[in-house]
Amino acid sequence: MERTYEELKNQMAMIDEFIETAYEGMAIVDEKGYITKFKYEKLLGIKEKDVLGKHVTEVLENTRLDIILKTGKSEIGDIQVMNGKEMITSRIPIHRDGKVIGAVGTVLFKDVSEVKYMADYIENIKTQMKDYKQEIKRLNQAKYSFENIITQNQQMQGLIKIAKRAAETHSTVCITGESGTGKEYFAHSIHKASPRRYGPFVRINCAAIPKDLLESELFGYAPGAFTGASNSGKIGKFELASGGTIFLDEIGSMPLEMQSKLLRVLEEREFERIGSNQKVDVDVRIISATNEELRALVEKEKFREDLYYRLEVVAIKIPPLRHRKEDIPLLVKSMLNVMSATYEAPIKHFTDEALLKLQDHNWPGNVRELRNVVESAMNMAQTTEIGLSELPEHIQQIPIVTLHDDESGMVQEDSESIQTGLKYEASSLNLKSNMEELEKALILEALARANGSKTTAAKYMGIHRTALYKKMTKLGMDV
Ligand SMILES: Nc1ncnc2c1ncn2[C@@H]1O[C@H](COP(=O)(O)OP(=O)(O)OP(=O)(O)O)[C@@H](O)[C@H]1O
Ligand SMILES: [Mg+2]
Repeated sequence: MERTYEELKNQMAMIDEFIETAYEGMAIVDEKGYITKFKYEKLLGIKEKDVLGKHVTEVLENTRLDIILKTGKSEIGDIQVMNGKEMITSRIPIHRDGKVIGAVGTVLFKDVSEVKYMADYIENIKTQMKDYKQEIKRLNQAKYSFENIITQNQQMQGLIKIAKRAAETHSTVCITGESGTGKEYFAHSIHKASPRRYGPFVRINCAAIPKDLLESELFGYAPGAFTGASNSGKIGKFELASGGTIFLDEIGSMPLEMQSKLLRVLEEREFERIGSNQKVDVDVRIISATNEELRALVEKEKFREDLYYRLEVVAIKIPPLRHRKEDIPLLVKSMLNVMSATYEAPIKHFTDEALLKLQDHNWPGNVRELRNVVESAMNMAQTTEIGLSELPEHIQQIPIVTLHDDESGMVQEDSESIQTGLKYEASSLNLKSNMEELEKALILEALARANGSKTTAAKYMGIHRTALYKKMTKLGMDV
């Protein structure tokens, strides 16, 4: 008995302590409305001992505890004026065996303005969250769609078809092509045409991120995962892209060690943030891009073969601009339209002569280079007509002959000869008798544009570096 009594006393003390700290004010009444517990000293200056046994209506201003006893219904979050202040109170009846045996009244906030302050504060945080979410969404959105890919080239149209079909599936897509051919355009377009288009499109440039940071960029880290890690941890691109697409740009530059980790994640379809053991599901479509030949990197053991097969389920190889010169007039027109709209300038157009000249250039920088040339020419032109003189010097001076790589678009490794072909009948050169002079001129031009680099010059000319050396020696040029 004594022990039970002690225990009960302890429990009562604990409840008292709890009531004191949990509420600003609190009263309990019996089934008739007489006060049995009263904790209002701090709030109203009334001591418990002075009011115990008194009827609640005599003690508490505007109380409704007497009414609660009759209705048996709670009143939560009501406003009650006491001492001239609006307080937020709750009243709860106590039931036992289906009968009301008392009621509890509590003060949750001693001033309505406190609640207003808290509500404003929460509202503020909610707005901020919304803003951040929108910003994250804006930053991680695909900007281009297939309509933005301007082409009348058959091979390109075939690629767009393949890409559109791939977009409907979850297959990983690998886009290859020289710099400036439009790999990023394809990646955006695939996302936009996919069922994941309402999800995020998150790009990460594997070449631009230092090796040591790549893993945390991709997979994030837990709070305090390593020295210097932020307290709140960091979300990785894979998590950010959840429900959408992740675009791994310049995948060829990914360090081997990271390739292994990526492969494991792709196989297991889940990963952990660095320093955490909580699994995160991978719900992303993967698109990768590179301007290096992945196959060649595999052979040089710079790229994991198993990862290569995983990434290249659908392969899209974009041909360089010099293999689809028929696109140049179309691209130029669309670029001029877009630019004049952006700068709110009148629409300009190239003269036929200037357009032909553009088609004679080899475009090592592909569509990006073309866009730069078009933009500078448009700015240079004084009238709405853009002529030869507005083109950059090196393009103006190209002889009216074009170089071809072989049909497949591959540079022939041991090609001995430059394949030259007359593009326009207007040529004033007699090719047969002036072949050597022409080759010399072309080599000099290529070298000048490549800033003297023979490797690059050979690339421009579509021949192997050793073939260029041989040719130059044969022509009596300084090697
Ligand atoms: N088919 C196209 N139609 C219209 N514009 C294009 C097309 N392809 C490329 N462009 C233009 O060329 C620029 C370069 O394209 P993009 O950034 O997609 O190239 P990339 O292949 O990703 O190059 P890099 O390997 O250097 O990253 C784009 O900003 C765009 O202006
Ligand atoms: Mg790119």
